[in-house]
Amino acid sequence: MLNVNKFSIGIFDSGVGGTSIWKEINTLLPLENTIYLSDSKNAPYGDKSKQSIINLAIKNTEYLLKKNCKIIVVACNTATTNAIKILRENYDIPFIGIEPAIKPAALKTKTNIIGILATEGTLNSELFEKTSSSINQKILRKEIIGKGLVELIEAGKLYSEEMTNLLSYYIKPLIKAEVDCLVLGCTHYPYLIPQIRKLVGDKIQIIDSGEAVARQTKAILEKNLLTNNHNKEKKSHQFYINNDKKALELLLSNNAEKVKILNDNF
Ligand code: DGL
Repeated sequence: MLNVNKFSIGIFDSGVGGTSIWKEINTLLPLENTIYLSDSKNAPYGDKSKQSIINLAIKNTEYLLKKNCKIIVVACNTATTNAIKILRENYDIPFIGIEPAIKPAALKTKTNIIGILATEGTLNSELFEKTSSSINQKILRKEIIGKGLVELIEAGKLYSEEMTNLLSYYIKPLIKAEVDCLVLGCTHYPYLIPQIRKLVGDKIQIIDSGEAVARQTKAILEKNLLTNNHNKEKKSHQFYINNDKKALELLLSNNAEKVKILNDNF
């Protein structure tokens, strides 16, 4: 008999950034098998139309369903904020999404000014608009589109002069505006935290949603009785990418023994 609990957690992103979420999930749920989809060929999603993002999210979901996933984590703010509603309406499987953590930031801020660094697609989405209107309206939101950051990470240029210059261009206005919380609204951006920290010092709290997504994944698996408790078996972590593997290998280098990186044309 098929044991659905042994099926994998499916995770997808427009590219390699969602591995920041995979790491949180793997830490919290070490007994789970995972299948990660890096749609790097189509990155960035952030400046695509809502309909294109929906189409790509459907394509990724179908691929993961064919590989027998029991739950799907949309490890991409842009795909979540534009497409998760449609995915939930069309597929009978639990979906976990990620959106910029502006609610926690609104509770933490003392200056009442928060910065949000995200893609154009996320900042312009209805879901982001809805969440924004639900927080205290006295809080000023400084929203910055991080155009170009995803492309540099996808190209393996995480630590490059181009990255240093672009980050400083985006972060300086936030420091000037006296934000005390900076929300990272894209799953690629946690990889930039050491460089952002250098720019902002210790006066600004950097907030991202990775850990919360892992906790939510665990809670939904438990609620649906889908948790894998077979601790004796070797776990499988497959990463599929439809473009050059270099950036993915770089970001997963600390987990190299655990993971299998494969090319596929999806
Ligand atoms: N990691 C995606 C996100 O969280 C990047 C989006 C893009 O490809 O522009 O939004």
